[in-house]
Amino acid sequence: MYVELKNINKNFGNFRASDNVTFSIEQGKLIGLLGPSGSGKTTILRMIAGLENPDSGDIIIDGVRVNDIPASKRGIGFVFQNYALFRYMTVFDNIAFGLEVQKKDKAYIKERVGELIKLIGLEGLDKRRPHQLSGGQKQRVAFARALAPNPHLLLLDEPFAAIDAKVRKELRTWLRETISKVGITSIFVTHDQDEAVEVADEIIITNKGRVEQKGSPAEIYKNPQTPFAAKFIGESLMIEDYGRLKGFSLDKEYPKAVIRPDFVSVTKPGNEVYPNSSATGTVEDIFFRGNLYELRLRVNGVKLTAYRSLEDEELRAGDEVSVLIYRLYLYNDNSVKLAENDVFRNVNEVFI
Ligand SMILES: Nc1ncnc2c1ncn2[C@@H]1O[C@H](COP(=O)(O)OP(=O)(O)OP(=O)(O)O)[C@@H](O)[C@H]1O
Ligand SMILES: [Mg+2]
Repeated sequence: MYVELKNINKNFGNFRASDNVTFSIEQGKLIGLLGPSGSGKTTILRMIAGLENPDSGDIIIDGVRVNDIPASKRGIGFVFQNYALFRYMTVFDNIAFGLEVQKKDKAYIKERVGELIKLIGLEGLDKRRPHQLSGGQKQRVAFARALAPNPHLLLLDEPFAAIDAKVRKELRTWLRETISKVGITSIFVTHDQDEAVEVADEIIITNKGRVEQKGSPAEIYKNPQTPFAAKFIGESLMIEDYGRLKGFSLDKEYPKAVIRPDFVSVTKPGNEVYPNSSATGTVEDIFFRGNLYELRLRVNGVKLTAYRSLEDEELRAGDEVSVLIYRLYLYNDNSVKLAENDVFRNVNEVFI
């Protein structure tokens, strides 16, 4: 394991910002640290970087305990949310900054900065100053500046938070490709789950200073291991009386359930694939979401959300529909479990 955090605790006054944080990261992986605001993501990054000291626990990088090694000696690159470029320096000088501090010779600096400008696709813009760049370009410069001294580990704290949605999406893909080209172990903080899912090899979910779950985006999505993870990931909706839904019965140990729109299939009455397991519902509202419709439904008194392709037969508010619910996540205060619709346990009713 390349980076290991073992039982890290950190208090700010009485507030516990890190609560027994333990995880490890393999070399070369891009890890997304995902959690709500205030869940302790930046604190974890700052402790790894050496900008903050844990009250207890060990931080190990490449087999060496670094708790007592100052930030400047840890060989870590850091990209912040607000670019933090030097305003009066050109793109070239911004990227060269760390190399100048290391007193590298001029020829090396020229070559290395040239290489990085190419990597970030800003050839010809080396003499510009930050105010002459777009937000996306500035963030690429910040990325190149962090990479210039050849760090072993790259930390990015919400690097795209200040950038508008479309450019942000392009930058995600760019970041993923560029990091894999460079092959550097990286930790990327975000509170945007789409961003984490698209960018990261593995996601660590944080909540109230704790690590809730670590796994690949698909594992996190399909197998949430804590009630928080089940509620936090996806467009999750909480329902209390899930026993009223066809194909499910109330499990007394798990009083609540989480449902996601992608677990709900809606058809016009008569077109059901599993008629015996479909319930009748009413469309209460329809929202056009560009690439799909979002439906608000009521099924036996329970409110649900579903998606529907633009290619499917059109529905209107007030229409009666057949609703099949594939699965739910049942949860209590301590644990979560997957519940499949009864139809998928009854082989006779499944058509392939
Ligand atoms: N230097 C500090 N002094 C006191 N409290 C702090 C300090 N730094 C962080 N905190 C508190 O610790 C908690 C975790 O903060 P942190 O910045 O790590 O959260 P975060 O997950 O990065 O949130 P965000 O998504 O809003 O950036 C917050 O409640 C914050 O107010
Ligand atoms: Mg933060």
